[in-house]
Amino acid sequence: MIKILSHHSISLRKKPSCELSVPCQTALAPMQDVTGLPFMSVIARRGAPDFFFTEFFRVHKNSRLSPEILSSITRNPSTSPVFAQIIGENLMDVQRTIKDLKKYPIAGVDLNLGCPAPRVYKKNVGGGLLRDPDKIDKLLRLMRECLEGNLTVKMRIGFEDDRNFSEILSLIVKNKVNLLSLHVRTVKGGYKTPPQYEYVKKAVEYIGDRCPVLANGSIETAEDAVFLRKKLGTFGVMIGRAAIKNPWIFRQIRELEDGIPVFRPVREDFYDYCIELYKALERPQMEERKMVSRIKKFLNFIGPSIPDDIGFINGMRRSTTKGELFGVFEKYLTGNGLGELPVSFRPQFNS
Ligand SMILES: Cc1cc2nc3c(=O)[nH]c(=O)nc-3n(C[C@H](O)[C@H](O)[C@H](O)COP(=O)(O)O)c2cc1C
Repeated sequence: MIKILSHHSISLRKKPSCELSVPCQTALAPMQDVTGLPFMSVIARRGAPDFFFTEFFRVHKNSRLSPEILSSITRNPSTSPVFAQIIGENLMDVQRTIKDLKKYPIAGVDLNLGCPAPRVYKKNVGGGLLRDPDKIDKLLRLMRECLEGNLTVKMRIGFEDDRNFSEILSLIVKNKVNLLSLHVRTVKGGYKTPPQYEYVKKAVEYIGDRCPVLANGSIETAEDAVFLRKKLGTFGVMIGRAAIKNPWIFRQIRELEDGIPVFRPVREDFYDYCIELYKALERPQMEERKMVSRIKKFLNFIGPSIPDDIGFINGMRRSTTKGELFGVFEKYLTGNGLGELPVSFRPQFNS
């Protein structure tokens, strides 16, 4: 089995998820066009999660491993292990892809059973597979045979409802999956429907002693993470969008659990974050206008964290050059003594 060197040196195979004496394990959720090497580097400097997952490697007849996604494995800027996520359904193509991935220092291979994009699920991959437990069984069996190390699954609770949820959990146990990340929505539920954490509780009850479970979906703050993890009895949490808004969140979770003062960023920290992110994303051959649009994907998430977000959001959306954009960062994040003002995040849950 591939050795996992997390901050807490936990082997996925040994620890049952319900052991609350073990620190809350954290993972950055895979996000296409976001969680590549540049963002990983920026996060790692602010407190890496225990686990990273790559954006998905597409698996089809003519697929080859994307060099850009591979760089987040080969140039991992942290000591946290990286799982390679794949999306596909053809058994021979999956087998070939796993063989290729095994040449790299991966923590394991993660099967995407959640992508809600219609062009994806219509091909019966990602979230589309949740309609077909038999196919999931075949895929997991093959992946288990191909992998000596960790086999992990990231799934939603179902396609349009939970009709296959229990059956898929039993397949996870049957095929000795080493870690389940559960996004608590259906595929049809997209990203905004209310998160249904009761399914995490069910998963922990059914399989938690055999497969660790990470809760995922709309965890907004470190306080939410610690509260939910205790309430649901999970191995830990997987966080996506809130880590773009607040790249210190993994560090804050550890500090909160350890009972030490929690780092609270001020606007100047956001200024540094935005500048560093721009530089990390910058490519010499990329046109400035394209570069500015590329970082806007991130800034759309960061904007609502900034008090007076409307000014920040409108300003950054209007910017077409690096100079204009950096001017917006200065105006809203450092100018006129703003830099010292705290930026707070509101927990969703009462702890
Ligand atoms: C921009 C974006 C891209 C995503 N790409 C992926 C992906 O490649 N693989 C995957 O399993 N999930 C993907 N997701 C889903 C996230 O991993 C996560 O499950 C979801 O955002 C819910 O977690 P959050 O509320 O903490 O963001 C993506 C989500 C977003 C917002």
